[in-house]
Amino acid sequence: MEKQKQKRRRLLLMPSPLQGHVTPMLQLAHILHSNGFSITVIYTSSFTLPNLSSYPNFTFLSISDSLSELEASASTSDPVHLTRLLNVRCVEPLKQCLDTLLKKKKDGDDDRVACFIADAALHFTQSVCDGVKLPRLVLRTGGASSFLVFASFPLLRQEGYLPVQESRLEEPVVELPPLKVKDLPKIETRDPDAFYEFVVQFVEECKASSGVIWNSFEELESFALAKLRQLFSIPIYPIGPFHKHFPEGSTSSSLLTPDTSCISWLDKQEHNSVVYVSFGSIASITEAEFLEIAWGLANSMQPFLWVVRPGSIRGSEWLEPLPSGFMENLGGRGYIVKWAPQEQVLGHVAVGAFWTHNGWNSTLESICEGVPMICSPCFADQKVNAKYVSDVWRVGVKLENKLDREEIEKTIRNVMVGDEAKEIRDNVLDLKEKAKISLKEGGSSYCSLDGLVTDIFSLES
Ligand code: UDX
Repeated sequence: MEKQKQKRRRLLLMPSPLQGHVTPMLQLAHILHSNGFSITVIYTSSFTLPNLSSYPNFTFLSISDSLSELEASASTSDPVHLTRLLNVRCVEPLKQCLDTLLKKKKDGDDDRVACFIADAALHFTQSVCDGVKLPRLVLRTGGASSFLVFASFPLLRQEGYLPVQESRLEEPVVELPPLKVKDLPKIETRDPDAFYEFVVQFVEECKASSGVIWNSFEELESFALAKLRQLFSIPIYPIGPFHKHFPEGSTSSSLLTPDTSCISWLDKQEHNSVVYVSFGSIASITEAEFLEIAWGLANSMQPFLWVVRPGSIRGSEWLEPLPSGFMENLGGRGYIVKWAPQEQVLGHVAVGAFWTHNGWNSTLESICEGVPMICSPCFADQKVNAKYVSDVWRVGVKLENKLDREEIEKTIRNVMVGDEAKEIRDNVLDLKEKAKISLKEGGSSYCSLDGLVTDIFSLES
């Protein structure tokens, strides 16, 4: 009876179009669908979503974002600028879309819209939803600890930590232990003040929502979640890790095609021996950094699987800067792909460490597979995530300073062999277990999801 009632409620979900945001939103859609809701995903016209036919149970609607080809193609070079454009250009198209959808509901459609769930970065959706009296929940795709830092931006500016000054990088941020000034979020964007304004606005619109959903779990981020509960007068729902609600790979939402040949290569390597290297879907590096990485990996003597996204080395299409014969000389010890089936790779017994940029999805995926991390954070929330990985959860080590082949070689060794490596591995396996328990009946994320489902039913549009 209860399930039948639930089937008649529809949720409207709107992801930000970037990979690190699309993936958790579609995973959330799966979670809520399997809890009896109908799902409509609204996306913006300049961006594709992964293979729509693999989501036969969802309805997809595209709204115009009026981006030129140039504006849309700059999504990886300046994601803040892109998001700011979407927050302006999508206002009218979303209004029209919601008017149509909600009118349909009044015309006797059984499938009533219960609420709108937006990526936190799309803060414009709050006023659009207010305008049509539709409750809005927010999905924050990053971690709660980094969000607490974003929520503290006005304080950090008032206390002089922001904008970050090179001369103060080693100073502790006493208001947010254990962070130092160098761990505060920074981003390359054409207008640094715009980043500050954007953060302040998306935090304010989260506060104005009916609740915030996190791809995290209580045991991982209890401190930040407790603080956020004090700061926000709305419910906070940590219901992650999202991808572990389902069997591996069943909710894959890669925007690029993964090269699965690396799995057969991994099959031939020894247990816990391979360093998997990937810096996510946005970060880019210079040619000099690329070469330091290549030599550091080669000199470490560990086998490595390296994702080099085409275009991610500034000024190059793909692997041109690599000295000729570089890979051949390694005698099969290294494997490079353009894009990997990351969840499957991290779950492979051969993988012993993940050298990552600490995007939140990658960080969580590594924890869930019990894989120690080498941290090279690039921008935004990644520096905060890396600090938690290395100094709070102690499940990885940070590659400090600039990328240098000797430093890389040493860090790889520290994370793969010796006492520190063992301690790190024990810690990450402990967190992996906690993540698993949180999703089981009676676990923290299980109960939080229960609360979310109940609360959605009590939201009245
Ligand atoms: C962005 C931001 O950079 C990040 O800081 C924020 O937390 C989320 O949005 P991105 O840089 O792409 O995301 O990193 P991440 O969050 O780690 O997401 C990357 C996703 O792509 C992961 O789910 C990962 O599994 C997937 N991936 C990555 C692949 O499937 N194959 C690859 O080869 C590399």
